[in-house]
Order: sequence, then structure tokens, then C-alpha cells
Amino acid sequence: MVTYPECLIEEEKASILIADDLDVHLELMEAIFEKEGCHVLTAHNADEALQLLEKSSPDMAILDVMMPGMSGYDLCKKLKEKSGARFFPVILVTSLAELEDKIAGIEAGADDFITKPFKSIELTTKVRSLLKFRKLQEELDHSESVILTLAVALESKDPYTKGHSERVGKLSAEFAAFIGLPEKEQGFVKKAGALHDIGKIGIGDSILYKKGSLTRTELRLVEQHAVIGENICKPLYSLSVILPAIRHHHERWDGSGFPEGLKKDGIPFMARILSIVDAFDAMVSERPYRGPASIEEAIRRMEEEKDSGQWDPALLEKFVEMMRGRENKE
Ligand SMILES: [Fe+2]
Ligand SMILES: [Fe+2]
Repeated sequence: MVTYPECLIEEEKASILIADDLDVHLELMEAIFEKEGCHVLTAHNADEALQLLEKSSPDMAILDVMMPGMSGYDLCKKLKEKSGARFFPVILVTSLAELEDKIAGIEAGADDFITKPFKSIELTTKVRSLLKFRKLQEELDHSESVILTLAVALESKDPYTKGHSERVGKLSAEFAAFIGLPEKEQGFVKKAGALHDIGKIGIGDSILYKKGSLTRTELRLVEQHAVIGENICKPLYSLSVILPAIRHHHERWDGSGFPEGLKKDGIPFMARILSIVDAFDAMVSERPYRGPASIEEAIRRMEEEKDSGQWDPALLEKFVEMMRGRENKE
């Protein structure tokens, strides 16, 4: 028989924080979840719950709404704030079944509710599905961060491209904010920028870092990076919004770009943003055959080429405006 070290088994146990001012409720829920094989942390009030969150980082929480001192709603808000970007599920236990109470709970960020008196199967089913969801979220975050790390590693091999995608991501997000895109979209644009050239992973180093000029066939192969990048990110549902930006970041306003030769408004908006920031970053970066342009020089050149057919002219105008504003501030 194979025996596993104790710590491995412990790691698989879900840890649940339960806050309720009544001992009898705490004991009941502790019994329910211990029977389910969970690790239970109990708190009699919000302060104790917050301390336990810091000390033991539980996987989720079940909170009684009516507690002396800080209510379950406020505690829920606090726990959500403290868990930051991590998905931390919270179930609110209430004896109130009024719609307003549910609304208050949703506003506090609760993921589910249970009304007293409840059947234990009802509660354990809700807990199980939230824990499963949390695990999926974590796996997703992990896969995303693997791809992002690959993107950084890919560029770090070459001093001329080092940090390019990260810079494009950051500046694109700043630009998205400047033109008034909502925060969520700014986040997508940032991710798209960070991953726009990930497809270069599929192009051989001998071509990618070739000293002399590329042959036509080699050039066509390099162009494939946009499509390869899309294929790399495709399996991740969370990246589906940015796939068109990756695929089309080399399209040109006049239709002479690749991979599809899309034109004007036919080019996805996020790709039009990337195309401007990508070109700007290339101009201000050093290349083996030329030094970096200064920011003013790059902006001036881009402005002169506004109608060259490479970029969305209205968007380029906005970019120049943002960069000039930045210069004036500095
Ligand atoms: Fe590219
Ligand atoms: Fe690029």
C-alpha cells in the first residue's frame, strides 16, 4: 500500500473560515464540514475572522449576517478586499429572506446565500461548487501566467527586443485609459500587448536573430507569428477576448498588412491600438543597424506619417496628443 506524507493530504484539504457569534451554530457547521473532510477555522466575530484570514489563508468563508460589531455584509466586503485579485468565495448565512437583504449581500460581493434553517446537504453542495470554481480559477491564472512568463523569456534572449512586449502592454493600457476605455478593457489591452508577439516562439532563432536581411520566404515565415500567437492563446478561454488583437496587430489601415489584409474599421480596435504602440516602441528601441529614436523624434515621425496608411489616423492623433501631454508634464 502506498502511504502519502501527511502534508500532501493536508494540502488537498479545503480550509473554510466560518464566522458566527453563536457557539451552537459554529459547532454545527464545524461538524458538517469536518465530516466532509475540510479543515475548519471558526471565528465569533469579524475581528477574529480577519485575523484568521491573515494567519491561515482559508479557501473560502461562510459568514453569519447578524453579528454584534461588524456585520456579515461589511466583513464580506473586507474579506473580498483583502483577498485582492484571488477569487475568494463567500457564502452569507441569513435568517432573513427579504430581497433587500439579498441585494445588500450581492453589493457586499457575496457569491451565494443560505437561509436559516437550512439542510446540511444544501450548504455542502453550495460550498463544493464554489470550491470547484475557485480551483478552476486558480488553474486558469496559472496557465495565463505561464504564457506571460514565456513571452518575457522569449524576448529576454535578445537585447534588442528585451522588455518590448511588456512595454507595449503598459503603454497600450495607458493609451486605452487616455481614450476613455473602461478599466476592464484597459486590462485586456494590457494583456494583448504583453502577448502580441508570443507567436515568435514558433519561429526559429536563426531567422529571428538573423544578422543580414531576410529572404522573402523567411519574411513570410516571420509574419506567421501573428497567427501562431493566436493559436498559442486559443486554448485559454480567459484570453479569447484578446485573440483578434494578437492575430491582427500587423494589419495596416490601408489593407496592405498581414495576415488578412484587413482595412480601416475592419481591423479590430484593440489591434489598431497595438499597432501604434508597437511601432512607437520599435522606434524608440535600439536595433543592431540603428540607434534608438528619442521620444520627441518618434512622435514627430509618426505624426508626419499619420496618413501613410499604416495606422488609424484618428487614433494616431490621440496617441500623439497623449505622448505630447506626457512630455509637457515631464
Ligand atoms: Fe508582431
Ligand atoms: Fe511587437
